[in-house]
Amino acid sequence: MSGPSPDSAAANYAANVAHNYGAPPITLVKGQGTHVWDASGKRYLDFASGIAVNAVGHAHPHWVKRVTEQAGKLVHVSNLYRNEPQGELAQALARRCGPGRVIFCNSGAEANEGLLKLARLHGQRKAGAEGACIGVVVAEKAFHGRTFGGMSATPQEKIQKGFRPLLSGFTAAPLNDLAAWDKAIDAKTTAAVLIESIQGEGGVNPATPEFLRGVEQLCRARNVLFMIDEIQCGIGRTGKFFAYEHAGVKPDAIAMAKGLGGGFPIGAIWMAPPHDDLFQAGSHGTTFGGGPLAATAGLAVLEILEAEQLVAKVAERSVAWHAELRKLVELRPDLVKEVRGAGYMVGVILHVDPLPVVAALREAGLLTAPAGGVAVRLLPPLNASPEELAEVVAILRQVLGGWKAA
Ligand SMILES: Cc1ncc(COP(=O)(O)O)c(C=O)c1O
Repeated sequence: MSGPSPDSAAANYAANVAHNYGAPPITLVKGQGTHVWDASGKRYLDFASGIAVNAVGHAHPHWVKRVTEQAGKLVHVSNLYRNEPQGELAQALARRCGPGRVIFCNSGAEANEGLLKLARLHGQRKAGAEGACIGVVVAEKAFHGRTFGGMSATPQEKIQKGFRPLLSGFTAAPLNDLAAWDKAIDAKTTAAVLIESIQGEGGVNPATPEFLRGVEQLCRARNVLFMIDEIQCGIGRTGKFFAYEHAGVKPDAIAMAKGLGGGFPIGAIWMAPPHDDLFQAGSHGTTFGGGPLAATAGLAVLEILEAEQLVAKVAERSVAWHAELRKLVELRPDLVKEVRGAGYMVGVILHVDPLPVVAALREAGLLTAPAGGVAVRLLPPLNASPEELAEVVAILRQVLGGWKAA
């Protein structure tokens, strides 16, 4: 089977796919390692990784072997029954998060829905009554997903517009402003806080270690759940397995997704004791979450990270890479404001709209992702080599160096 021609693929898309993503100008047909190819045969360095998802690159042989073997063995049974890979993956995650329990789901937004439901249960336990303690404090510019819970936790006009009324109880406070969080977290009515260790969609904004430690202390003092959204920045991306580890904090609950499946949809929440008994039989669930195939994809990712020591490599390789990227500010101070982020989660912050720059980079053979209206976001697979990192710096220098102000 040769598949549709490039023209008919584009026409099918234009005629039949809803317009919520805008018209994609290229159709991707193949991936290998850090590269993808479009339908015309053009090759790109993939430093978008499907928005931080392809943690071990495309078509990694071990991932393909594990997933195809499992596909021929057992794909789906629902959560009416146990399956082996789900238990193994929960154990592997608990080893990294700490003692506690895991519930699987299928996406990032769904993982955050789980955390928000956990917050409601915690609030009920804390107040002794349903509905009396439902407050959740979130950060300005946060992004937590497109479901009603996710949107309610995402204090951005462009996300919420058209969908109100949303869930009540959310308060937004500026990231890294501990005094504002001290004010916003109420001992009586706040059930939880929800924070990205590094904001992704908001423009690659890292929470400082002091801020995270300060919020953790406030939460402990006021019996408020300290919930961390590691959906984009987790699973090795910043050079630690979870980005919050840079601050030395201990969350009560964590949301993860994206890189966990290496391209297969999976999400998860982990909950520390004593909160890991809040969900009892019948209180939460999903048909697909933690199915044998998805859980095997997650196990394959963790096996590759271990076998190839990828988290340590991200930490080590990103030092020189960031230093080279920061030179873009010297090259074009009129265009590039700063370079920020950690490990393989980097924002090149511009003084101009990043969208035309992302388009020009794509033309030059580099896929990146815009973020927050200010950043060209670089999210390479965690096995991107030093040579590939250097090649990307060269493409950025060439495109930004020759950039003509509009
Ligand atoms: C930090 C964060 N939380 C939640 C989400 C939502 O995840 P999903 O798109 O899988 O629903 C995203 C997606 O970009 C994210 O970056």
